[in-house]
Amino acid sequence: MTPGAVDPPRCGHRPAHRDGPTRCCADSARLGGMPSEHAEFPNLRVFDHPLIQAKLTRVRDARTDHAEFRRLLNEIAALMTFTASRDLPVTAVEIATPLERTRGVALARQVALVPILRAGLAMTDGILALMPEAKVGHIGVYRDEKTLRPVSYYAKLPIDIAESETFVVDPMLATGGSASHAVTELRRRGCRSIRLVCLVAAPEGVRRMYTDHPQVPVFAASLDRELDGRGYIRPGLGDAGDRIFGTQ
Ligand code: PRP
Ligand code: URA
Repeated sequence: MTPGAVDPPRCGHRPAHRDGPTRCCADSARLGGMPSEHAEFPNLRVFDHPLIQAKLTRVRDARTDHAEFRRLLNEIAALMTFTASRDLPVTAVEIATPLERTRGVALARQVALVPILRAGLAMTDGILALMPEAKVGHIGVYRDEKTLRPVSYYAKLPIDIAESETFVVDPMLATGGSASHAVTELRRRGCRSIRLVCLVAAPEGVRRMYTDHPQVPVFAASLDRELDGRGYIRPGLGDAGDRIFGTQ
């Protein structure tokens, strides 16, 4: 997250909707173009861009089939990553145009995407369209249905992941157990610059991330109302993995 003090929000955290994904605010001038900072969650950045919000509404809609669901998820992921990558370090380079020499920039560090299996896969292609040179690691975690605790079953990461600017991607941040596990694994392997990009976040998950990994910014298209008794985000979008892959 960009260090240093920032001005108080100009928007006063105005509600976007009465009952739904309410707690976003608009003040994208802050944090060098980052989307808004949330009063209750210093680690959270919520996007209120109309393109993202209109696509998110279609993703939530139970009538949206898995083909369109996947397409929209990739599109939203790309739109969000455009801003979530705003603070990537660059280095000055000199190149020759067909007419003369000039100065420009190149990314200073390699980028790695780490989708959390399964659902994170549906955001990966959208982000790779922006950053095709990124390496891709995979972390496999599923939630135990009864305990809601993460069960780890797979991790395959670039060997030099510690040198990367790393984007962990998963559409759902519910209890936060899966995302926190993934970030713990990345930090254990030496990663220091990590961002989490998700679609829909529950307050419980954002809080868990702030407790476990306060230095990791969480980018979300929506901060939803709550988790229900089964650990589902409300209003949410249902089971992301099943809707992406048509497994239910
Ligand atoms: C979903 C989702 C997250 C996790 C979020 O995965 O994609 O990874 O739940 O919940 P949490 O914040 O409470 O950990 P799921 O466990 O359904 O696995 P799947 O993607 O393989 O279906
Ligand atoms: N995982 C999902 O796919 N959906 C939820 O609402 C919570 C966790």
